Amino acid sequence: MAGYVVVGSQWGDEGKGKVVDLLGSKVNLVVRFQGGNNAGHTVVVNGKKTILHLLPSGILNQDALCIIGPGVVINPFVLLKEMETLESEGCTCNHVRISDRAHLLMPYHVYLDELQEQRAGSKKIGTTKNGIGPCYADKYTRIGIRVCDLRDWDVFCEKLQTVLDIKNEEIVKIYNGKPFDYEEMVESFKAIREKLVPMIIDATDKVDQALEEDKVVLFEGAQANMLDINYGTYPYVTSSSPTTAGVLEGVGVSFRHLKRIIGVVKAYSTRVGEGPFVTEQLNEFGESLRETGGEYGATTGRPRRCGWLDLPVVKQACKINGLTDIALTKIDILTGYEKLPVCVGYDINGKYYETVPASLKDYAAAKPVYKEFDGWTEDITNITEFDKLPVNCQKYIRFIEDYCKTDIALVSTGPERNANIILKDLI
Ligand code: GDP
Ligand code: IMO
Ligand code: MG
Repeated sequence: MAGYVVVGSQWGDEGKGKVVDLLGSKVNLVVRFQGGNNAGHTVVVNGKKTILHLLPSGILNQDALCIIGPGVVINPFVLLKEMETLESEGCTCNHVRISDRAHLLMPYHVYLDELQEQRAGSKKIGTTKNGIGPCYADKYTRIGIRVCDLRDWDVFCEKLQTVLDIKNEEIVKIYNGKPFDYEEMVESFKAIREKLVPMIIDATDKVDQALEEDKVVLFEGAQANMLDINYGTYPYVTSSSPTTAGVLEGVGVSFRHLKRIIGVVKAYSTRVGEGPFVTEQLNEFGESLRETGGEYGATTGRPRRCGWLDLPVVKQACKINGLTDIALTKIDILTGYEKLPVCVGYDINGKYYETVPASLKDYAAAKPVYKEFDGWTEDITNITEFDKLPVNCQKYIRFIEDYCKTDIALVSTGPERNANIILKDLI
């Protein structure tokens, strides 16, 4: 009975896709538990880059069953397109299943996301405009349409009619937008229903059975702790729980099954969208991290905001997720800097903190307290043993481990699947 969790420990884009793919050959099931196609998870194998949005990053491993779990919001059109693209590249998707309890992300969610952001103007969240917030809002308002409703066409049509009346009123009266046509939407779902229905399963039961049979199940998080609806920099967050707690509620699995919880940590910080970012470097350092690190959104293509490593953020992720291990990525990108500042705390109005405050006003006032490390110049991309890393690089890595009181099990030194220093077998 072994469940393994991979979660983001900063603001997303830490390299979760790479870590999940790496572990993919050792697992029987890979399960996404929250979020939707706001995620962009990159996997690079033999120079070929694949970006996954809804499909679990275990997909390239044909032996693992890939499940989109109950806590995910599924845009079925995006899902089928993603599968079609992969299949055209020779990767079969027969091993994809979707949870009957997952909510359908509808065209009006995408449109409302865009209208809401437009209306918010300078106060916008900077969402991926994929309808994530509006879909989760409907789920909790209890007017969502679920995947299981696709099985029963009458139920689906009836629900759609009721909710579309409400949505169209909102679109027209509040946002002065263009309403959706019910018949057209019904037709578009009719056209894809046949493809989706055979993929629908009771995912909670499937995962439970697998764990009972001593199979290895990997739960793949999207987004990250600082984008968590409860613990992130609210309201500049996503609308789900990308944490270990999100696995429990988003799959319906007991914490007793979780053996290791792996937090992916990028060796520096990035953020896409609006919201506070204490160590952001709006200067040549930020620009060089962006260029060397290829820090452009895998989903929206937006340039990512870049800055130095913020350890209070990572430590918060360790605590909230109960991380047993850290997978440290992109350390290779830090090669060539003379000095590497690492934020170890915040000065907020004259007081020292090592925790992230709830109030955005306080967080906006936070000044980073840095510990400065000497850099290294050697190319580290082909190194596979920790002791062969430049000493200054080793010191940088060990400091993260000490500060966070969490073992670093893996150091990733490049985007390729096998560019790693394995310090501890994760599975
Ligand atoms: P995710 O959303 O957490 O899966 O991360 P993204 O895929 O959005 O962004 C991570 C980016 O860094 C991708 O382009 C990866 O291919 C790349 N990457 C992952 N690990 C490493 C690494 O150790 N070094 C370098 N140079 N690139 C990496
Ligand atoms: P992965 O899984 C980085 C950010 C958006 C925005 C906020 C809310 O690739 O790490 P949403 O569309 O979710 O309502 O947007 O969250 N965001 C991400 N940032 N990586 C992601 O996913 C993200 N998913 C959402 O930029 O600031
Ligand atoms: Mg990403």
